[in-house]
Amino acid sequence: MAHEHDFQALSVQRLPAIVAAAPKAELHLHIEGTLEPEMAFAIGRRNGVPLPFPDPAAMRRAYDFRDLQSFLDVYYAAAAVLLHERDFYDLAWAYLVRAKADNVVRAEIFFDPQTHTSRGVPFETVVGGLSRAVDDARARLGLSAGLIMCFLRHLSERDAFETLEQALPFRSRFVGIGLDSGERGNPPEKFRNVFARCRSLGLHTVAHAGEEGPPSSIVGALDALAAERIDHGVRCLEDRVLVDRLVRQRVPLTVCPFSNVRLRVFDRLADHNLPALLAAGLRASVNSDDPAYFGGYVGDNLRGVLSALPLGAADAYRLLRNSLESSFLEPSAVVAHVARLDEVFAAG
Ligand code: HPA
Ligand code: ZN
Repeated sequence: MAHEHDFQALSVQRLPAIVAAAPKAELHLHIEGTLEPEMAFAIGRRNGVPLPFPDPAAMRRAYDFRDLQSFLDVYYAAAAVLLHERDFYDLAWAYLVRAKADNVVRAEIFFDPQTHTSRGVPFETVVGGLSRAVDDARARLGLSAGLIMCFLRHLSERDAFETLEQALPFRSRFVGIGLDSGERGNPPEKFRNVFARCRSLGLHTVAHAGEEGPPSSIVGALDALAAERIDHGVRCLEDRVLVDRLVRQRVPLTVCPFSNVRLRVFDRLADHNLPALLAAGLRASVNSDDPAYFGGYVGDNLRGVLSALPLGAADAYRLLRNSLESSFLEPSAVVAHVARLDEVFAAG
């Protein structure tokens, strides 16, 4: 248990190794955002889809984003190389192997079906490749993963309902639904009815809110969508009443530090409000969002915040424990992973 740890005794030098070895859950990860330039070129070549860059290094150099939308433009364009079941499998498998190296024991992976179906790729192709990788991760890596289907909020609710119809034959292949894409001008309330329908199907619900959007966007995700977790949520600190509610209701916030810096939510990692979120008692975890675009995977994000911010061993433990306890794993699995987390910290 947390109170049994003597965090003071834990040497600062050892902390990065302990955090690296610790079991962790990744809860905010877009599979399309794990498309590394090298893989984009390899798949593009195989499929005869050209990319608007001469080589992977040039593609990576172009990742200089002003805001969320300037990133989304590049991210949706690169996803155009993904056409076949094998492409989606290769993408997800490469991510899962990397996650395993970071000691991720549970990955809840977002995918954006509309990014693909709008290009004529069948829903079945997307979910088929991704879910085959998820099955292989369990069998070959001992890593539990689940898929979360996201609706693109810049599209209409009618479009989301059509996507849900296409998804229904594959209901068993995903654990929940989410809401992503451009937050400005696309409030959660727009998706009230489709989220209600998904809840009636027994799906978990999460939503991006309070990344670029104001605290009222987080309130909308809770009230209109009954979101069980808030993705990002960092702008909640602008509203004290909201913070009290999030703390009281123990709503998880899946925070993505590298993403927030690259998309200019914060100027520098040293300016991130993660220490303030933890100090307020919010249930924050650290996640990678779109690691191929933002400079690192979950282990890199954890190392980054621990070196740039005033966070100690107790904070690192809390972030990791929050990640496990905020997952949609069955309670017995969470208990087992937390016991292992305690062992790793106790061993120092
Ligand atoms: N916000 C919204 N949509 C996204 C993001 C994000 O951080 N990453 C991929 N799609
Ligand atoms: Zn995201």
